[in-house]
Amino acid sequence: MDDPTASNREILLFSMQEEVGALARALKIFEDNKVNLLHIESRSSKRSIGDYEFIVEIDTVSGDVAAAIEGLKKQSSYFQIISRDHKDEETIPWFPGRIQDLDRFANQILSYGSELDSDHPGFTDSVYRARRKEFADIAFHYKYGQPIPRVEYTPEEVATWGTIYRQLTQLYPTHACREFNHNFPLLIENCGYKEDNIPQLQDISDFLHDSTGFTLRPVAGLLSSRDFLAGLAFRVFHSTQYIRHGSCPLYTPEPDVCHELLGHVPLFADPEFAQFSQEIGLASLGAPDDYIERLATCYWFTVEYGMCRQGGELKAYGAGLLSSFGELEYCLTDKPEIRSFEPSKTALQKYPITQYQPVYYVAESFEDAKDKMIAYAKTIPRPFSVRYNPYTLNVEILNSKPQLENLLKNINWEITRITDALCKMR
Ligand SMILES: [Fe+2]
Repeated sequence: MDDPTASNREILLFSMQEEVGALARALKIFEDNKVNLLHIESRSSKRSIGDYEFIVEIDTVSGDVAAAIEGLKKQSSYFQIISRDHKDEETIPWFPGRIQDLDRFANQILSYGSELDSDHPGFTDSVYRARRKEFADIAFHYKYGQPIPRVEYTPEEVATWGTIYRQLTQLYPTHACREFNHNFPLLIENCGYKEDNIPQLQDISDFLHDSTGFTLRPVAGLLSSRDFLAGLAFRVFHSTQYIRHGSCPLYTPEPDVCHELLGHVPLFADPEFAQFSQEIGLASLGAPDDYIERLATCYWFTVEYGMCRQGGELKAYGAGLLSSFGELEYCLTDKPEIRSFEPSKTALQKYPITQYQPVYYVAESFEDAKDKMIAYAKTIPRPFSVRYNPYTLNVEILNSKPQLENLLKNINWEITRITDALCKMR
């Protein structure tokens, strides 16, 4: 049964600007305004490491509640009213605030790399299964900041890679988007992309970091959509390191190193695409479960199976297309249906995962897709905005006045710098 007095109570959550005597100052505000307190507690802040925040339940029919709230807001670095029916703080799913936090869910995988389904081409191959366990163990023990262990691929593995590499590179000049074809030669030059060599994740991670700030981290199995998307918020891409079974070089039931390195990596070296991917990740942080599914669907129809229009022609930029010879050819035929990328509609589209896509969504440009994703993110019910701080590698929750004032100050400095540079160029 509902608490009949619930409407006479309100819960306030706040942090004070200076810690010493903070709670005493807050309590004085309530006392001065004759507001009765029903419950007080303090806890470590989830927003700012080392800070404390206070949760106070007040009787809203006593004293001058509005004046007390105003007074408290002026002295708080963070302030939020939580209604009893809508306990945001308890219902918002946990999400990583620091890049190191990705370690916390790296091993919450849906299946370990060596656990293969009975219809997997390597299911009955004990050597392949043992090899898959080696890769899964590398990822399982990986921690943020460590170099990704280098792997010596066997001649059979390199041969499998070579078959795929040879076939796909024939199609790229005509079927892949401009950005892909710009970056691919750079990967040949800098990361050892070639027919008889499987490039190393660490070399690629270093290259991407220099290009767009993206990095790779090895993953032992399938992550949940929430965790995988959260990585993108930090410009971190969870990558497999094993290769598909050699008996079926042109088919894999799951992502493998060919899919990641040939399909995904070249686009993560493009600044606009990198930012688009990060926007999906940022939108996912703390989002309700149904919105995670919608964002994962947007991810599917863009980062995995996206197409774009360039110079009046359709081109592929999705990794699922760029790593599959058959589907890369098919997507440019008149068989599939082509629709404009519109996140609110695309997010609801159902799709098959084991056959060619019957529908593709076309982006006019990565910038256009990014702007649409940002607009869509605003419709996600979340009581805060987030921003990635590239200096601290933290995600900041934007919900306090001093924080926004600081941000504005920084933007002003940047505008001054840009104006100065423009003047000098003239
Ligand atoms: Fe993928």
